[in-house]
Amino acid sequence: MNYRTIIPLLFAIINLANGLNILTILPYHGKSHFFVFKVYLQELVKRGHNVTVISHFPEASGSKNYHDISLAGTINIIEDTMPFHRSFFTILGTGVYLTSTGKKNCEVMLANKDVRNLIDRKQKFDVIVVEQFNSDCALGVAYKLQAPVVGIMSHILMPWHYNRYGIPNNPAFVPFHFTEGGTKPTFLQRIERFILDVYFKTIFYYVSQRNNQNELAKYYDDIPPLEDLAREIKFLLLYHNFVLTGSRLFPANIIEVGGYHVKDAKPLTGDLLKFVEESEHGVIYISFGSVIKSSTMPADKVKDVIDVMSQLPYRFIWKWETEALLMDKNKLYVSQWLPQIDILGHQKTLAFWTHAGMGSTTEAIHYGVPMIAMPVVGDQPANAAAVEESGLGVQLQIRDLNKENLLAAFKKVLDPKFRENVKQISKAWHDRPISPIDSAIYWTEFAARYPNLNFTAASAKVPCYQYYNLDVLAAFVVLSLVVFWGSKALLTSCCRKAKKPEVDVKNKSKKRTKRE
Ligand SMILES: *[C@@H]1O[C@H](CO)[C@@H](O)[C@H](O)[C@H]1NC(C)=O
Repeated sequence: MNYRTIIPLLFAIINLANGLNILTILPYHGKSHFFVFKVYLQELVKRGHNVTVISHFPEASGSKNYHDISLAGTINIIEDTMPFHRSFFTILGTGVYLTSTGKKNCEVMLANKDVRNLIDRKQKFDVIVVEQFNSDCALGVAYKLQAPVVGIMSHILMPWHYNRYGIPNNPAFVPFHFTEGGTKPTFLQRIERFILDVYFKTIFYYVSQRNNQNELAKYYDDIPPLEDLAREIKFLLLYHNFVLTGSRLFPANIIEVGGYHVKDAKPLTGDLLKFVEESEHGVIYISFGSVIKSSTMPADKVKDVIDVMSQLPYRFIWKWETEALLMDKNKLYVSQWLPQIDILGHQKTLAFWTHAGMGSTTEAIHYGVPMIAMPVVGDQPANAAAVEESGLGVQLQIRDLNKENLLAAFKKVLDPKFRENVKQISKAWHDRPISPIDSAIYWTEFAARYPNLNFTAASAKVPCYQYYNLDVLAAFVVLSLVVFWGSKALLTSCCRKAKKPEVDVKNKSKKRTKRE
């Protein structure tokens, strides 16, 4: 044995000694979510931790430290299913979707024998990582295993997350997940937020969480209220960073780790390489993600887009799901699958027209590519607003999509000055004291090291009437009333007293005058 074999062996032994037993519970079946978590999980394994993953995406990683408990095949994986459309009703529909999938996610997870075996065997974990999204079912499983819990996300907060972490959620300046307006909503947008916030919270607490609680109760009779368990979460690994989303009001246990999933761009190959390299003026990349079908765009809008493309000197790459020939092959490259990161990382890519999903937005900022953000569902409206507010691009709402507006949007983001600024923001995005993946791992390990410490903000635990100081307000109202009525009563009685002698004097004087 020489040092070349001994040193890695020593490292392996040290890692084994320090390695934690980590359980990750990812009951949701969204591919774009797992795409982010996967990078974190692989990093945990790399650092010598023994990782058990409950998810719909078994990894076949080959590592002896990565153990799948697979839920695959129990739910259809969503891909290319959303039509190209957005309205108030789509947003209400999202609430229904989140509730029904949250119920199903919980049912199939608890029905899994391997999951219940973990609990029956009382398997020991040092820390349990739980996705924070549409369901709190995983918190019940974590409770049975009695380990500190860390929350993980692949996007921005859902409306029902603010309360549990004690994060201010004032519609006047906190962007709302599902709607436009960002940090500067109009009066009507604030009304819209108010109504939708009540809607989403009501169905989450009274339908989703209740469903999950009942499902858990079928198997275990001692699960505390899920909302109470949520308030015990040690840290939340939130998938954004203030360079993109702006400064937010977060307690110290909310850790911004946005950016870690983006891999290094590889050189393009084949047809695509040729198409990009041979473009004289550069290329513009168009993709609306894995959930939205570009090809469901209404025909008149497609015509407008093609018109705009022919007016611009650039070449275009479009993620498109049908074989239809839209345009000259030397002008437009269409494919159902495209290496997004490699395209964004290429020198000749000048702009990205995107649906502003958090994954795509993060990849664009990583490579400093200006965006035209056209949101469709979920958190995309909030992300699109962040893109515009941070200076990374412009928003274009689906309802405003026409020749004129699209051309104006392209002109704006293709301006060299705009581009220069985006490069600067991208540089700031990378300029951090600790890399996002190091940070995510660090706080996970920290939670395992101090299982008895909890850093939940007091604002999460204070009763609602105290949070808004309603009792203090009420005390002042009562006090004011007491003072008001008191002084009124006092005044009346004083006046009466004061009047009596006056009458007497008058009478006396009258008497006197009479006498005189
Ligand atoms: C690693 O995790 C697996 C699966 O949960 C478990 O069976 C095994 O005992 C763990 N290994 C150690 C060393 O704890």
